[in-house]
Amino acid sequence: MSNIFPSKRIHSIEDARNLARKRMPRMMFDFVDGASGDEKLCENNSKALDQIRLQPRVLRNVEKRKINKSFLGSEYDQPFGFAPMGMCNLTWPGADVMLAQESVNNNVPICVSMASSTSLEKMYDLSKGNCWLQLYNFQDEEFLMELLDRGHQKGYKVAILTVDVPIQFRRAKDNKNGFTVPFNLGPKQFFDFASHPLWSISTLLYGIPKPMNYETSKRGNKFNRGESRGSTDWNTLKRVREKWKGKLIIKGVMSPEDAIKIKEEGADAIQVSNHGGRQLDSATASIEALPLIRNSLGKDFPIIFDSGIRGGSDIVRALALGADFTMVGRPLMYGIGADGAKGLKRIVDIIKEEVSTALGLVGLNDIKDISSDIIAERFIREFKY
Ligand SMILES: Cc1cc2nc3c(=O)[nH]c(=O)nc-3n(C[C@H](O)[C@H](O)[C@H](O)COP(=O)(O)O)c2cc1C
Repeated sequence: MSNIFPSKRIHSIEDARNLARKRMPRMMFDFVDGASGDEKLCENNSKALDQIRLQPRVLRNVEKRKINKSFLGSEYDQPFGFAPMGMCNLTWPGADVMLAQESVNNNVPICVSMASSTSLEKMYDLSKGNCWLQLYNFQDEEFLMELLDRGHQKGYKVAILTVDVPIQFRRAKDNKNGFTVPFNLGPKQFFDFASHPLWSISTLLYGIPKPMNYETSKRGNKFNRGESRGSTDWNTLKRVREKWKGKLIIKGVMSPEDAIKIKEEGADAIQVSNHGGRQLDSATASIEALPLIRNSLGKDFPIIFDSGIRGGSDIVRALALGADFTMVGRPLMYGIGADGAKGLKRIVDIIKEEVSTALGLVGLNDIKDISSDIIAERFIREFKY
């Protein structure tokens, strides 16, 4: 029976990853799973998290535990949200819809990528407004401004400007697989699709995913992943800040100096992230930047953390090192790639359960009480903020 329902075989994020790898064409799996350059940073993100050891505490009555968190003026049921990911429907037809529905079921924010396969307006409706709008600044800044206008008109309260992709780092697997948008269907890709019929038939029936924020724009811009975003600078940030009256998050910050300046420019939050190891391959693990950035911004400035989270304990670790909120990326895609909405639910349930259990095992009842005190003595000097 468990063979018919792959989600029943998901007991860990690695299980979902293995199942997704089997079901998806190599080109699509590698697009999700892959990283930049030598791909080691993706691994290092999780390894560095793993090296932070927490201190178990006992005899504290942890029967009732609260893991809800307020962030940027909203109350969420979990201390994590869904990171922005472009072209999610390549994983499973309707993946964006699944993410939106799961965000509603769990009262967590979903970040709608500029390159999403579903328009920002539809994602707002599907997630019942539980969504944040993520944007890049490509060559045409007016397009970015148009999307901010559309977001505002629809009711979005939070925008994210991602700044860590001024130039896209080489991704060897994508190049090897011939991954391009729009697709280039040669013999290699044809064979890849033909040997993954479940994915191919359902994707054909649902319709080849398109970057719907582009398709629904009157400006006629075409999505080109490789288009340079290199002209994005401090003046871009000033103009975006002037335009967007809602909360503004700057995503992809790894340097304390940048963080201070971004705060001074009026951003409402900073997202410490190395894009899941998909950009500068020689950067430090994202978690290593977190306490330094917390130190530089002071204890009250809102910080989100992502890159490398592979379970609930990683979220607890990130909160202990100074994050107020966290975002999960690839694990959600592994769940969907393995078994659609059911797989996604399994992954979210696993992470939720682990957050709550880890909280209790470090002797706390409320996620708001997490501080660097829960880090094991040996590691405190290194990570104290
Ligand atoms: C398939 C995929 C697509 C992504 N697309 C975007 C995007 O459109 N915008 C963005 O800001 N970040 C994007 N990211 C980066 C994620 O938002 C996030 O920073 C990263 O996945 C976190 O690392 P993790 O996957 O190890 O959790 C993408 C990541 C993946 C895996």
